[in-house]
Amino acid sequence: MNLQWFPGHMAKTRRMITENMKLVDAVVELLDARLPLSSRNPEIDRIVGSKPRVLVLNKADMADHNATEVWKNWFNEKGYAVIAVDSQSGRGFSALEPAIRRVMKEKLERERARGIQRSSIRLMVVGIPNVGKSSFINRLAGRGAARTGDRPGITTAKQWIRIAGKYELLDTPGILWPKFEDPEVAKRIAFTGGIRDEIMDLEELSCELLGFLSAHYADMLKARYKLEDGQLKESSYDLLMQIGKKRGCIVSGGNIDTLRAASLVLDDFRSVRIGTITLEMPE
Ligand code: G4P
Repeated sequence: MNLQWFPGHMAKTRRMITENMKLVDAVVELLDARLPLSSRNPEIDRIVGSKPRVLVLNKADMADHNATEVWKNWFNEKGYAVIAVDSQSGRGFSALEPAIRRVMKEKLERERARGIQRSSIRLMVVGIPNVGKSSFINRLAGRGAARTGDRPGITTAKQWIRIAGKYELLDTPGILWPKFEDPEVAKRIAFTGGIRDEIMDLEELSCELLGFLSAHYADMLKARYKLEDGQLKESSYDLLMQIGKKRGCIVSGGNIDTLRAASLVLDDFRSVRIGTITLEMPE
């Protein structure tokens, strides 16, 4: 997570994305399925405007499957086209083309009525850092895709990835800023590793995560760390100490190394070793 977003950077990014958007037919807005709203740019609706758009809940393999279904319905009810994918395995990608055709239906029909046979749809991907934009582009491009330079007569220095018979994808995704001034948003992004650990208080962060997990995913937490019911009722810091003790995070003198325990818990969460977890639900 790049925290260096200043008003000047934001204005520049906004301008760049707006310019690029003129070149494409549709926008793919990538969100993290574990935190769909917190991984959203606060100005995205204004930036995308009326351009056809598909929302993609990426990293669906790491999220709670039932929660992802709830989120998909929630976004659908708000009028968005939304799909869930895993950019590492390619799961869910077959739903992309129908979704894009759906949001572009009117335009495609208008073109057909005028006898225009289009060979591909131009797309650009946008999303906050670490949401999986590069992975998504690489997965979509696959092995058969060709990176093309500009066509003669077009003066912008854009690179396109041609995906035979389907899309032309703008090579560079639009990198948006998150709603980082909201501490809850920042915390959830930090849980996922989206903010550099070096600048975080890891013990506090892992205690917050343990508090969330004992409230919402108690069984997974118990199973992972072989905890008793009673232990979940303890304070998050006591829970961290228990986990540290069980996992042998001990410093000389027999004290518990809570920093090591904190890193272990965060690492387990980020590697999906605790389970598939979603950090927020629709209000
Ligand atoms: P960005 O361009 O939006 O900044 O994100 P990027 O594709 O670099 O992805 C960020 C991290 O998330 C990468 O992990 C990537 O492998 C992982 N990732 C992206 N999409 C998915 C997905 O659908 N499922 C899962 N499980 N992981 C995903 P990394 O640890 O930073 O790098 P590496 O492990 O790939 O080396």
